[in-house]
Amino acid sequence: MATAVDHYAVMGNPIAHSKSPFIHAMFADATDQKLHYAAQLVEANGFEKALATFFDQGGHLGLSITVPFKEQAWQLAEIRTERAEKAGALNTLWLDSEGKLKGDNTDGLGLVRDLKMNNGVSLKDARVLVLGAGGAVRGVLEPILAEQPKDVVIANRTVSKAETLAELFSGKPVSACGFAEVTGSFDVIINGTSASLHGDLPPVPASVITRTTTCYDMMYSAGTTVFNQWALDQGAGKVIDGLGMLVEQAAEQFAIWRGVRPDTEAVFTKLRQEMS
Ligand code: ATR
Repeated sequence: MATAVDHYAVMGNPIAHSKSPFIHAMFADATDQKLHYAAQLVEANGFEKALATFFDQGGHLGLSITVPFKEQAWQLAEIRTERAEKAGALNTLWLDSEGKLKGDNTDGLGLVRDLKMNNGVSLKDARVLVLGAGGAVRGVLEPILAEQPKDVVIANRTVSKAETLAELFSGKPVSACGFAEVTGSFDVIINGTSASLHGDLPPVPASVITRTTTCYDMMYSAGTTVFNQWALDQGAGKVIDGLGMLVEQAAEQFAIWRGVRPDTEAVFTKLRQEMS
């Protein structure tokens, strides 16, 4: 008799270049878990149906959600974890023990883990500058604040969007401004804008960077990202790109689904090798 295999998938559009199937297959291998993880392209208006169809099939237990469906996933989940509530978007769905559709957002945890565990950068009592105020930034603010930084400044091209995000976290040491208005220097600077997709840099004063500043670009690329190259040129002490965050957010998903946290180092090393 054939052994039943549990099914997982990532849904998005586009999806062809997703590294999630590779990452989760390596996690499954390393932890001796029997599962199948697929990439599923979903039409722009077909997410709700695709979701229902997926979970209606026996043994289809969990989904990774990527652009552009993270906000819709948040709306469709029956139960959300506390950290996902504020994120306004989900990257992880699964059926809980009562068959309810449950959602989480592991992006922020992935970012914090990559900073702390893989790079030895603590956010506790740190001055943190976050560039951007879109979905990617909203998804990571709660876990960043949970690390108890001294303060978090959100700077964005459209200042009103940064202000709206800061208001979501009222009572916490969070403020908002435009790029040109950022003053002082920071311990950690996180680039969550998509400016580099357009070949741009967020125009913050170079004085935000000192030689003890760590710059983290949530984007990643084969070579140094445009933002991280700029940061190095300004004398930043350390630059990190988002590849580690990608692997760590997946490891959190895997832990939620399978109850075992995979080691991430081998996967990270392999992905980095394959990109170069
Ligand atoms: P995501 O889900 O990746 O966060 P998004 O919600 O569209 O995508 O947000 C993109 C972020 O990058 C926003 O903060 C955006 O600034 P605006 O809110 O002013 O649009 C920022 N961004 C995009 N292109 C940029 C550019 N060329 N320069 C500076 N910021 C840019």
